[in-house]
Formats: sequence, structure tokens, C-alpha cells
Amino acid sequence: MQQAIEALRADGLTRIDQATTADEVEAVRVALLGRKGEVTGLLRGLKDATPEERPAIGAALNQLKVDLTEALDVRKASLAGTSEQHTGLDLTLPGASPVSLGTQHPLLSVLEEMCDIFYGMGYDRGEGPEVELDYYNFTALNFPDDHPARDIQDTFFINKDVVLRTQTSPVQVRTMEKIDPPLAYVFPGRVYRNENADASHSSEFFQLEGLRVDKNISLVDLRETVEAFVSSFFGAGFKTRFRPHFFPFTEPSVEVDMQCVKCSGKGCGVCGQTGWLEIMGAGMVHPNVFKAAGYPEDAYTGFAFGMGVDRIAMLKYGIDDIRLLYENDLRFLNQFRGVL
Ligand code: PHE
Repeated sequence: MQQAIEALRADGLTRIDQATTADEVEAVRVALLGRKGEVTGLLRGLKDATPEERPAIGAALNQLKVDLTEALDVRKASLAGTSEQHTGLDLTLPGASPVSLGTQHPLLSVLEEMCDIFYGMGYDRGEGPEVELDYYNFTALNFPDDHPARDIQDTFFINKDVVLRTQTSPVQVRTMEKIDPPLAYVFPGRVYRNENADASHSSEFFQLEGLRVDKNISLVDLRETVEAFVSSFFGAGFKTRFRPHFFPFTEPSVEVDMQCVKCSGKGCGVCGQTGWLEIMGAGMVHPNVFKAAGYPEDAYTGFAFGMGVDRIAMLKYGIDDIRLLYENDLRFLNQFRGVL
């Protein structure tokens, strides 16, 4: 009997070892330990043993059961790992549901691209508050007290002295209060105007302000800077032109046009058949602004400009409605995946 037990143990362990799938292990388990299995058969034979032999044989059979069960469990567990590999599981692959990565908003990408061009020309970057004092947004910029831009219809007033800035120009004064010339800065940021939204107006939008102050800066430097920017951003071959304009904080003041990005000056729907697109307001810093910043009289000259980042982004990507830039509709935004 003891021999039969040992033989079955050796044979059972070999068969367990040879099983290569979970199903085969289960089949071996049934063959050995099932109700009609071989170990069970031996147990039945116990009744033929003498009363003296029985305890030892019984103990040996129990031990056999324990050993085989353990071997079966170990085999099954080790196959569980390998069978998954056989079905092609690669734990280094990304998950089954697509991993959706965010991407920078097209407006901010354009803003950074514009800043980069000015960094290349030696400009620094500065920032100022969006909730701004009326003083910096208007008074220090030489706006008369009764200037229409101060009107509640254009400006969001927080109270009589505090506004949501309507332009990035107040950062000019804040910067000049702290830094002496020579200086060259860009000030990107969000601005607010109390306007009804339509395809070309939004109550919030972005501007990129530029300021360069030194001894003997002239309108020629402004022209050169504008042309360098336009050819870097839009590519070579677009002419620019200055049209006389008025801003309280620059004298002389201009509006800058570039040849239409779509038709290159021939006239089309984008440029209203004129061949030209307005891209910024600019001019030579007004002496009263230098005075507000605390600079000595007649010591310096400088130019400033302000561009609408939204408008530049719209021209670059052929976007015909500014509201698309603020609605965060993924069907719109996803078009810029991998493009920027
Ligand atoms: N701040 C002006 C605007 O918002 C633009 C501008 C900036 C004009 C700097 C001249 C100089 O329209």
C-alpha cells in the first residue's frame, strides 16, 4: 500500500508538471483527487488494510492529498502568469482606452510665438494686473478726464478708481516707474472692454504691448521693428504701412497695416477688398507719459505698440469668428492638436 502511495505521488507530480494550461491542471486534479479519482480510489482500499496498518496508511494518504493539492495550486498560479503572456499581454503597452493629452490653446501658442520673436530682438517680458487703477489705465497715459474711452460703455469699472484694464498700455508706466532706460519690453496679457460680442468683438481679448526707450529712438526704429516682426511671424514679402492716427499716450501715433495674408494685397473678403489688414496701434511715447513715470524731461525717446493677439491668431489660422477662441468647443480646439 505504501508503495502504491509513493508511486501515485511521483506519477501525480509529473503529470501536474506536464500540464501546460489551467484546463489541463484542472483535468489532472479531477483525475487524482476527484470523486472517482486515483487518490480517492486508494482511500477506498483502506478498508482492506489491517487495523494495525490503517493509521499509518491513512496518514500517508492524507499527506499525499495535501502535497498533490499544493502542487496543483502552485502549477495553476504559475500558468496564470504565462497564459496571459501567451495571449499577447504586454504590460509596457499603453492602456486600451486612448490616453487623451491636452494641448496648448491656439491663442496662447500664438502669444508665445509672438513673444519669442521679440526675445530674439533682445526684449524682456513684463506683466501687470488685469484689475488696474484708473490712474494707470488712463490718467498716467495722458487720457483727459473727459475722454470717451473712460466712459462706462467701454470700460468695466470696479469702482470709481479701479477698472478692468482696457489695454496693456498701463504696464508701460508701471515698468518705467521701476526701470530706467535703455529698456525693451513686451507685455502680453488679457484686457477687457464692455462690448457686445460678435464675430470680431469679444468683451475679453489679448494684447501684446511693446515698449522700447533709449536715447535717440525714432519712428525709423519702430518701422524696422514692425517689419522684422511681420516677416518673422508671417513670412517674407508682406509690405507694411503706417497711417496717421491718434492715441493720447503716443505722439505721433500711427496704425500699422500689413498686406493681406490671404490675397497678398490684391483684395479679398478677409481684407474687405482693400488689400491691407490693420495689425497694431503704435507711436512715439508721449512726453507726458515719461513725466508720469518720473523720467527726466527730454532725456529719452521711445516707441510703443499694441497688437491684438486674437486678431493675429485669426489671421494666421484663417479663423473668422473671435468667439471661437473663447468658447472652448473641443471640435474647434482639437483641430490644433499637433499643429502648434
Ligand atoms: N493701447 C492701444 C489700444 O488698445 C494700442 C497702442 C499701444 C497704441 C501702444 C499705441 C501704443 O488700442
